Amino acid sequence: MKLAVSGKGGVGKTTLTSLLAFTFAAQDYQVLAIDADPSPCLGDALGFPRELIQGLTPIAEMEALIAERTGAKPGTYGGIFKMNPRVDDIPDRFSATFRGIKLLELGAVKMGGAGCICAESVLLKQLVSMILLQRNEVVLMDLYAGVEHLGRATSDMVDALLIVAEPTARSLGTAAQIRQLATDIKIPKLYLVGNKAQNQADRDFIAANTPGLPVIGYLSADPAVREADRARKPVYDLAPALVKETQAIIAALDK
Ligand SMILES: Nc1ncnc2c1ncn2[C@@H]1O[C@H](COP(=O)(O)OP(=O)(O)O)[C@@H](O)[C@H]1O
Ligand SMILES: [Mg+2]
Repeated sequence: MKLAVSGKGGVGKTTLTSLLAFTFAAQDYQVLAIDADPSPCLGDALGFPRELIQGLTPIAEMEALIAERTGAKPGTYGGIFKMNPRVDDIPDRFSATFRGIKLLELGAVKMGGAGCICAESVLLKQLVSMILLQRNEVVLMDLYAGVEHLGRATSDMVDALLIVAEPTARSLGTAAQIRQLATDIKIPKLYLVGNKAQNQADRDFIAANTPGLPVIGYLSADPAVREADRARKPVYDLAPALVKETQAIIAALDK
């Protein structure tokens, strides 16, 4: 399964991605978790040891690699560079693995105006396409805010986009905007995940205000999420209730 996770900042994308990663890994899947946040923090959420995280460099910041593969210096616009740089070795060479989860950090894609292409964005797009097309593991992409990492060419290779929202009008408004962008690039299946629900009224609010998105599941507000953060442990280890809810989301996605 190849899943992308999006939503307004702070709604719980990284928390959900980490829960999905461990839940799939517990079902004996190989998992490739991709952090597309310009300030990466999925590794922390996954409980990766410090030294492993410190050994990672976001791909967008690997200037020598970008120059070698594209034939152009990062940050240069125009000029001549390869549109199909070699990327197939990148996930295995530049990731870290912990508890059966492989973590790759993409870093910030610089997006100029429409149609802007630069060396690092070409490399990242090619990398994401290759991962979606060729990797035969569960792929989870923590997409930060928008869907910029997914181009039109590869959007139909994502099995589903999960748009996370809290029981707030603003996060549901952002979900509506993301839904529009995702529909524009033709991502076939879009679902809403309601997070931080404290009670049935919260679930009802989300269900009543989804911008035409089917709700694939809910995660409850759980103090264990904060405890996990402070203890530098994965939420998966400290929040059995959220693990159950994540299992239910995966079961619904399977269907
Ligand atoms: N189900 C939850 N219950 C309690 N707190 C949560 C829950 N999900 C996320 N949080 C908290 O919300 C904040 C943002 O979560 P995070 O996953 O980093 O969001 P995002 O990746 O969307 O920015 C964090 O402080 C996190 O601990
Ligand atoms: Mg995040």
